[in-house]
Amino acid sequence: MPEIAAITRDGIRLTFPCPGAISVLDAAEEAGYYLPCVCRHGRCGTCHAHVLSGAYELAPHEAKLPPGPGGVLLCRCRPLEDLVVALPCRDAQIGRRQVPERHATLGAIATSPEGWTSLTLHLCPEGAFGAEADFAAGQYMELRLPGTDTWLPLCMANAPNEDGALEFLLPPQADVEWAAGLAAARQGTKLQLRGPLGDFILDEKSPRPRCLLGGGAGVAPVLAMLSQLAVMRDRIRVHCILEAAHSDRPFFERRLAPLRGALPQLTVALVPAGEAAALQTELARLQAADFYAAGPAPLKEAVKAALQALNNPPGRLRLAPALSVETAVAGVLAQV
Ligand code: FES
Repeated sequence: MPEIAAITRDGIRLTFPCPGAISVLDAAEEAGYYLPCVCRHGRCGTCHAHVLSGAYELAPHEAKLPPGPGGVLLCRCRPLEDLVVALPCRDAQIGRRQVPERHATLGAIATSPEGWTSLTLHLCPEGAFGAEADFAAGQYMELRLPGTDTWLPLCMANAPNEDGALEFLLPPQADVEWAAGLAAARQGTKLQLRGPLGDFILDEKSPRPRCLLGGGAGVAPVLAMLSQLAVMRDRIRVHCILEAAHSDRPFFERRLAPLRGALPQLTVALVPAGEAAALQTELARLQAADFYAAGPAPLKEAVKAALQALNNPPGRLRLAPALSVETAVAGVLAQV
């Protein structure tokens, strides 16, 4: 059976066997190493890595392979012999325990004035977990689509809470029609979830000002982080930049108003998608800040470029994983 040696960015070597019939990602999990991944179906690109030596085959995939020789997606990669693989993450980013599986009841479904769909799920009390919604703002859960093996990654839009409520926000696109249709058909039924997942979380100990940017589905983690700061009664300066189709119309005002009340130091700016100059102006409002960006790849690239132009020190920007709701839903639509 082929052996895999996976080397992290900080030089830790993980070894595990991989029967040729399963992917390197699955084999790592069987050995107790939970590598960063989202879709597990070659769509999101999160599990990218480089094979340094050894032969392998790649199953069909939609996400681009990482550049350079040996670029692979571990969820699509099957070894033909022993492999040495360079992982893009540090050892601390690799989980050592199985991602918790939970059940929840589908509750309220609402449409915001902006046309977004909000789904609220209520976690069922289970063993050691109780009924608490115990996660860090910015993380996501995977929701199993009933009757399928497809797990849809969705970021929570609310703060952790003892009531067991998880709120998900879906942008007004084709996937929302699907989500609303599914929700209407199955409201009140039990759904399977796993998580929380992801390390896109606030550095609560940092004394620096915070700048939170969200676009598309990335608005949800930004709202979750603001809600968490409001619960903490945080008083560090926070500037929120939201990508909106129309910067001159209210956007999530019903949610932002109470957050402004709880966080008097909060400022919010709306920036139209693709307006690099406006984005740079907003980013320049905070000096020596911690930046958090969630949303589509072009937004994240624009943030990186703007921060570089503003001479911000590297390492102050945290990027949310590409949850790729749109591509995941494309697969879902084919099955529902
Ligand atoms: S987890 Fe492999 S491409 Fe998404």
